[in-house]
Amino acid sequence: MAFFEWNENLSVGILQLDTQHKTLVNMINNLYEAMSMGKGKDTLPKIIKEMSAYAVSHFSSEEKLMQMYEYPEYESHKKEHELFVKKIQEFKTEINKGNITITLNIANFLKSWLVNHIQGTDKKYSPFLEKEV
Ligand SMILES: [Fe+2]
Repeated sequence: MAFFEWNENLSVGILQLDTQHKTLVNMINNLYEAMSMGKGKDTLPKIIKEMSAYAVSHFSSEEKLMQMYEYPEYESHKKEHELFVKKIQEFKTEINKGNITITLNIANFLKSWLVNHIQGTDKKYSPFLEKEV
């Protein structure tokens, strides 16, 4: 069983965004697996770099849609995204310093952040956004 599995409870009802969330789930699994196989040191910087780039582009997709549909909680939602990006930046700094003992913390943090963010924050935009996008 994978470390992190996407399930219907994580659906925001918008195909494009669910697909992007699934990609993030896969990336977090890859990170966890690399770490479990002791490959963390070699692959971690690359995985983190890819994941943060993907997260940034995913956040921008969400933000564009929220703006397009004049979602009232846009600002506070965007703040959450910004805090996440900042946190990842801190992880990157730690990793670049060679401090990889925090890897398991990173995988757990990413998983719980994503679950809480999707269920507590993302789902709130569902009724405001077109389902077809
Ligand atoms: Fe979001």
